[in-house]
Amino acid sequence: MGDMKKKVLVLEGSPRRGNTALVTDWVLEGLGKKGVEVRRVRVCELNIAGCQECFGCRAEKRRAGCQQDDDMLELYDLIVDADLVIWTSPIFCWGVTSQLKAVVDRCFALLKGESLVKGSNWALILTAGGDHYDGADLAVEMFRRLAEFGKANYLGQLVVPSCSEPGVLKRRQEVVESARRFGRELRSQIIG
Ligand SMILES: Cc1cc2nc3c(=O)[nH]c(=O)nc-3n(C[C@H](O)[C@H](O)[C@H](O)COP(=O)(O)O)c2cc1C
Repeated sequence: MGDMKKKVLVLEGSPRRGNTALVTDWVLEGLGKKGVEVRRVRVCELNIAGCQECFGCRAEKRRAGCQQDDDMLELYDLIVDADLVIWTSPIFCWGVTSQLKAVVDRCFALLKGESLVKGSNWALILTAGGDHYDGADLAVEMFRRLAEFGKANYLGQLVVPSCSEPGVLKRRQEVVESARRFGRELRSQIIG
């Protein structure tokens, strides 16, 4: 039975356990535990450098082949093996956090050739201090295009705007409900 569980990898882009982690908790409540194995990875706790643009990865067709020896090597396997990858980030200056962007750029090593993430399922959770136009729209577009480029299935996004402090967010019941609903929708897309 264990082997039949769907693997869900959550790549957490915030440097703190704040709004995005809280919204992610609610999404995962909606996703449920039955039949899924969830692994949450806080990328800020890992040692992941930016892409060095050496193109060494191009020599390898069946693996990432990245020439840098850091924690990204383990993440490559997790990303390729996952039935669903949920990318999460607060919006920092009209984009995702630099910690998560390093992971995105290093994923370039998975997108060459036939793409090692072809047919994978990807989803996105964003929180923002402003509204959709203050950067969340751009981050959504980045992931949609990245997924399209890598032939991954982009399942959709949950964007929570106007986030101040996590304590305030907890009192916004409509956010809790929409996050749980998003989790249930993701579940139905990967399990049926
Ligand atoms: C350095 C920094 C830059 C930010 N830039 C933006 C921005 O461009 N647009 C926006 O809507 N919110 C911005 N924010 C607000 C955060 O996106 C928002 O507070 C978010 O919910 C924080 O999530 P977290 O608690 O999970 O880290 C920024 C916050 C910080 C610390």
